[in-house]
Amino acid sequence: MQVGLYLLLVLHIAEGCKLKDRKFEEITAHIGGSALLPCYCTDPQATPGRFTWKKPRTNIDILEEMSSERIQYRDRVQLVNGHSPGNLSLLISLLTEEDGGYYRCDLESRYTDIKLTVKGCTLTNLKTTLPITAHTGGSVLLPCSCTELRAKPKTFTWKKYNQKWDSIPFESGQYRNRFQLVNGHSPGNLSLLISHLTEEDGGWYRCDLESESTLIRLTVKGKTLVCFLSAKCVE
Ligand SMILES: *[C@@H]1O[C@H](CO)[C@@H](O)[C@H](O)[C@H]1NC(C)=O
Ligand SMILES: *[C@@H]1O[C@H](CO)[C@@H](O)[C@H](O)[C@H]1NC(C)=O
Repeated sequence: MQVGLYLLLVLHIAEGCKLKDRKFEEITAHIGGSALLPCYCTDPQATPGRFTWKKPRTNIDILEEMSSERIQYRDRVQLVNGHSPGNLSLLISLLTEEDGGYYRCDLESRYTDIKLTVKGCTLTNLKTTLPITAHTGGSVLLPCSCTELRAKPKTFTWKKYNQKWDSIPFESGQYRNRFQLVNGHSPGNLSLLISHLTEEDGGWYRCDLESESTLIRLTVKGKTLVCFLSAKCVE
């Protein structure tokens, strides 16, 4: 009887959470987006004892316990286990640049380390040139956006090629009131809307962000007149 109880106890301890043996993990996410920092028990149904997520305090080699009570994390960090108690993953949302760095999932002196890199805006459509066709008098949207629409780039410029690449002066002469940035409430949407198109608006455009750019070739076609034998013409 005594032996039976003893065995049961050992069995129970052996069933506790053992952290999945994983190599140091690197995760990349974008400003404004979210990141799931993975940490699991080998057995998804294992109930872990006390575990903590830690992060080194800025510039100091001391790991600080992350508490959702702290202002910097409030409403942004949460444990998400997807109904398996052995899943100790941490979800951080509305990422800021300061969230980048090292994290440690610490379970009774065993741990998993993760490096999180938080990137700013990365443009979509980098590898291709976009051909766009529109008609005089109409309007056209030249698309340019960050892969993460909530990422707000520090600076960006729209350029048009006239013998050389010139920044578009939105407020002057031919551009005023016709060239508008429209982001539809997404800070990472850098699209340019051109209205009342003229044939001169045709050509090459570039949306520039640091060392990246999106290249667009705009063709503006004149309206074609179709005339009938009755001498009546329609656009
Ligand atoms: C842990 O939970 C998160 C959130 O529900 C889920 O995305 C992830 O796949 C889970 N990991 C494992 C190994 O179950
Ligand atoms: C950017 O905003 C414009 C105008 O609201 C919208 O038409 C376009 O779909 C948006 N682009 C993206 C990638 O959301």
